[in-house]
Amino acid sequence: MLFNLRNKVAMVTGARRGMGRAHALALAGQGAKVVITDIDLAQCEQVASEVRSAGGEAACFKLDVSSKADVNKVFDQVIAKYGRLDILVNNAGIYEPHPFLDMTEAEWDRTIDINLKGQFLCAQRAAKEMAKNKWGRIINIASVASGGVGVGIAGGAHYTSSKGGIIGMSETIAVELAPLGITVNVIGPGAIDTPMVGAASLPKEVMDAMLAGVPMKRMGQPEEVSAAVVFLASEEASYVTGATLYVDGGWLAA
Ligand SMILES: NC(=O)c1ccc[n+]([C@@H]2O[C@H](COP(=O)([O-])OP(=O)(O)OC[C@H]3O[C@@H](n4cnc5c(N)ncnc54)[C@H](O)[C@@H]3O)[C@@H](O)[C@H]2O)c1
Repeated sequence: MLFNLRNKVAMVTGARRGMGRAHALALAGQGAKVVITDIDLAQCEQVASEVRSAGGEAACFKLDVSSKADVNKVFDQVIAKYGRLDILVNNAGIYEPHPFLDMTEAEWDRTIDINLKGQFLCAQRAAKEMAKNKWGRIINIASVASGGVGVGIAGGAHYTSSKGGIIGMSETIAVELAPLGITVNVIGPGAIDTPMVGAASLPKEVMDAMLAGVPMKRMGQPEEVSAAVVFLASEEASYVTGATLYVDGGWLAA
């Protein structure tokens, strides 16, 4: 079977709902033991129940990725339970738009702390564990709105800065971690139907304007991004590192 993840331990951050939930289910579907983390433990437990009902293995931990103390505590617990970590999906993120001229320092810091510093903290600790086995996969979730590809989002200066930072960090740590057997790649989703950007949270005219520029004329489903996560997590992606894979229905090609 291609993309077999049996005997791998995979942690997903921000996995109580949306794309993180889909990634956890998809990784478990390939045989990985999944560690489901988010700020709300009860909702993580619901995802873990779904994994278990499908025959998979899951554990849950409450984790605020912007807190170094939290990150260290949860990684210690994961290592105590499984003895290893093979795959990290740095998925947790927030999108809290504020017009640039009104954006406060606290608003800027909150987005950067969760979206960018959180990925740094988790990737650094994960890489230390992965290096012990000379094998690891770090998959960082950015966005089409990450700079350099022509997608500015009004109200999202802090968000696009955080996502661009993720790509820059990932390219650099891909270079540093390659000798340790660890690959580092980025996925840049386009408009994906989740609580963050879904039909339920955006006014119809905003949604219509966004989809007008997407050749496929529809939002992506979380599972369409999870397929890319599974590939990058697999043995078969062994020669892919430092890459950014956009899963965007053709948005950036249009
Ligand atoms: N939906 C889209 O169209 C889209 C597009 C591009 C990128 N993304 C990115 O995809 C990722 C997943 O987003 P989603 O669309 O599934 O949205 P979502 O809001 O459903 O999921 C984000 C998750 O992150 C969690 N989270 C927030 N703050 C956290 C913290 N401090 N510590 C740990 N977890 C925290 C939330 O509780 C939530 O479960 C995010 O990084 C987002 O920026 C989304």
